[in-house]
Amino acid sequence: MRLKAEINGEWREADVWPGASLLAALRDDLGLPGSKNACEQGECGSCSVWLDGELVCACLVLAAQAQGREVRTVEGLAEDGHLHPVQEAFVEAGAVQCGFCTPGLIVAVADLLDTDPDPDELTVREALAGNICRCTGYAKILDAVRLAADRTRAGGPA
Ligand code: FES
Ligand code: FES
Repeated sequence: MRLKAEINGEWREADVWPGASLLAALRDDLGLPGSKNACEQGECGSCSVWLDGELVCACLVLAAQAQGREVRTVEGLAEDGHLHPVQEAFVEAGAVQCGFCTPGLIVAVADLLDTDPDPDELTVREALAGNICRCTGYAKILDAVRLAADRTRAGGPA
């Protein structure tokens, strides 16, 4: 099938297998490998993207379901060559080890801070409950969220 969707602010087209997931289409057909494929079962959150503004696991969405819709991926967060504040915070807080979970976590944190710029720890833990990290023990990730939240409130939207 021919997929046409607005991806990171740009209308893109690609030939994709009709049964392909949105994740496979992004990674294999549209040159956007930022979203990771760690479980392909909706369990880990590494493939998180926005579809019409809603956070989804791209491994559970058919590419065909994105037809004519707006998709935003982790690649769409940096602007004018500058990392998004959440990306900066993850780097500075040392919240990245192997990095496999990182894109999904960054998307999830950016989504959280868009709606709640000052989340308490329970809210953060609930918001990130669908994102699995096998490396960090999560402490540094929570540090990164706090750093990003502080900066967001000080300097505008994340
Ligand atoms: S790869 Fe989609 S949730 Fe794990
Ligand atoms: S940094 Fe390796 S899975 Fe999170």
